Amino acid sequence: MHVNDNNKTKLHTGKVWLVGAGPGDPDLLTVKALRVLQQADLILFDNLVSEAIRALFPKSVPAFYVGKVKDNHSIAQQDLNALLVKKARQGLNIVRIKGGDPFVFGRGGEELLSLVQAGIDAEVVPGVTSASGCTTAAGIPLTHRGLSQGCTFVTAHGETELTLNWASLAGLRHTLVFYMGVSRCGMIAEKLLSHGLSPETPVALIENGCRPEQRDIIGSLHELPTLVQTYRVQSPALIVVGDVVQMASQLRAGPALDLLNQSCA
Ligand SMILES: C[S@@+](CC[C@H](N)C(=O)[O-])C[C@H]1O[C@@H](n2cnc3c(N)ncnc32)[C@H](O)[C@@H]1O
Repeated sequence: MHVNDNNKTKLHTGKVWLVGAGPGDPDLLTVKALRVLQQADLILFDNLVSEAIRALFPKSVPAFYVGKVKDNHSIAQQDLNALLVKKARQGLNIVRIKGGDPFVFGRGGEELLSLVQAGIDAEVVPGVTSASGCTTAAGIPLTHRGLSQGCTFVTAHGETELTLNWASLAGLRHTLVFYMGVSRCGMIAEKLLSHGLSPETPVALIENGCRPEQRDIIGSLHELPTLVQTYRVQSPALIVVGDVVQMASQLRAGPALDLLNQSCA
């Protein structure tokens, strides 16, 4: 197949890179992600790819928004999968870049599967997932000797009804990180409390983590819905539940809104 693009005649099938952009700070982009961006013929990016990272896209490479926000998808997943296949068959090297890590609540598996099934050469470039980047920026270690022996990443938003085992989650007694949880904070608090977690369990809301506008709001599980409402927490935000949250007052570099320690800055 011959396709003219940027005055180059393509005689071969291109390749698709599913790239993780990390949570927003361009310094958290991997060296490999930056290298493939610099070699791309076409870039397709999500809404969670920060402005600072978009500024690193080479100016000569066409870049299109293909993001999804709640109830507003710029392109259906199926159509996007088909577009990736079509453009790769035209010989283009495509970077499909997403927030965080493509394989953590990022639909990277679905996109890779569709490419593999179509016989397209594809590779995943992992990124720093927001649970890791944002908690670090907030001074919260995901595990800490004496406080938490593990960590579970949970989505609060399912394609269909959520089928989480709340008794197991509450019974783990270790760090829980909820993605896409802001609009369901009431349900999260209610389920964890009714399955035995203490109302005083520390929680953190981290909004716009790893970006200049990051906000950390720290309090207790029983007040989670009130915190979201009072501070008008908006997506993207993570909810971190567990004793490790109390480390933020000692480990965070900058000021945090810390209701546990009564030091609001
Ligand atoms: C569709 S999931 C994508 C997760 C992504 N693949 C990752 O590994 O971080 C979107 C959710 O990730 C979380 N998230 C992503 N970036 C974030 C950020 N910079 N600050 C806070 N939460 C973030 C939020 O919970 C958001 O609703």
